Amino acid sequence: MASNDIVVKTEHLTKTFGKITAVNDLNLEVRQGQIFGFLGPNGAGKSTTISMILGLVTPTSGNIEMFGLSVKNHLSDVLCYTGAVMDNPGFYPYLSGWDNLKVLARISCQGKEDRIDKVLHMVDLADRSQDKFSNYSQGMKQRLAIAGALLHDPKFIIFDEPTNGLDPAGMKEIRELIIDLGQQGKTIFLNSHLLHEVEQVCDHVVIIKKGKVIASGTPDELIKHGNTLQLQVTDTDKALVLLKEQDWITSVTTEDDVIILKVSPERATDISRLLAKNDVFLSEMKAKNDSLESIFLELTGEEAVD
Ligand SMILES: Nc1ncnc2c1ncn2[C@@H]1O[C@H](COP(=O)(O)OP(=O)(O)OP(=O)(O)O)[C@@H](O)[C@H]1O
Ligand SMILES: [Mg+2]
Repeated sequence: MASNDIVVKTEHLTKTFGKITAVNDLNLEVRQGQIFGFLGPNGAGKSTTISMILGLVTPTSGNIEMFGLSVKNHLSDVLCYTGAVMDNPGFYPYLSGWDNLKVLARISCQGKEDRIDKVLHMVDLADRSQDKFSNYSQGMKQRLAIAGALLHDPKFIIFDEPTNGLDPAGMKEIRELIIDLGQQGKTIFLNSHLLHEVEQVCDHVVIIKKGKVIASGTPDELIKHGNTLQLQVTDTDKALVLLKEQDWITSVTTEDDVIILKVSPERATDISRLLAKNDVFLSEMKAKNDSLESIFLELTGEEAVD
């Protein structure tokens, strides 16, 4: 694939704050047209990475290229192709949604006042555009932030926790909007804690922990990496004793009378042989369908997200 298909490339990107290494030798590649999910537990370095991509924070070392240009030397150029929806959009509370976008249009790359009605329509705020920002609901504020990010018709849009504080209907609206933008050919970088959201929306996912990449692939690829087998047998108690004695099985648990094993799927024949040798027979053995959420928890060693 030609290198101009790469929208963002970070090489050995590192950021330290005193003794804390927030981002540690991070190599990312976001390709054109991707909806790229950027995941990681709290404090993993996601927002710091985004701030460096947007030129708000200077890297300690390493490089960032956007659209083939070094961000260090061409920040204002690359930002003209980029829109950002951060979790705390700054708008003037006493101005209407429309007037807030007018202010933004005047300070963003090219005065795009003629796009205000269009972007308000895209985020479904057209009929409330004359109301004061301070009277907007949380979801409307977030949609106005997206409208602001779309004003200069960017090719690349970064979302940092875009559904924070929204109710399920509000989240669904934003999700659909992101999918819509992806279908229009925009490249999207989505930082979210909501794994089912990422699973539904993204076509490529990177998980970071302590500033480093620990997994990367399509949601399907990541889910298939889950080494979980489920089995049903003729004698569950006896099977549990046998399976727990094997050091090549990482964990043995049960859900009702189904045995759940964390083990490499290639060991399936070893499992059936072991059981059969001890007069326990399988009535079912299959790979358990993991969710991105369970894979995330497994990889990052986090307990619960919510
Ligand atoms: N300006 C700063 N000064 C000092 N430490 C910082 C600064 N910004 C971030 N950090 C530290 O860097 C680490 C990574 O923070 P960051 O905000 O990038 O994480 P995150 O992945 O976005 O987390 P969350 O999911 O909680 O938003 C944390 O330990 C944080 O305390
Ligand atoms: Mg963050």
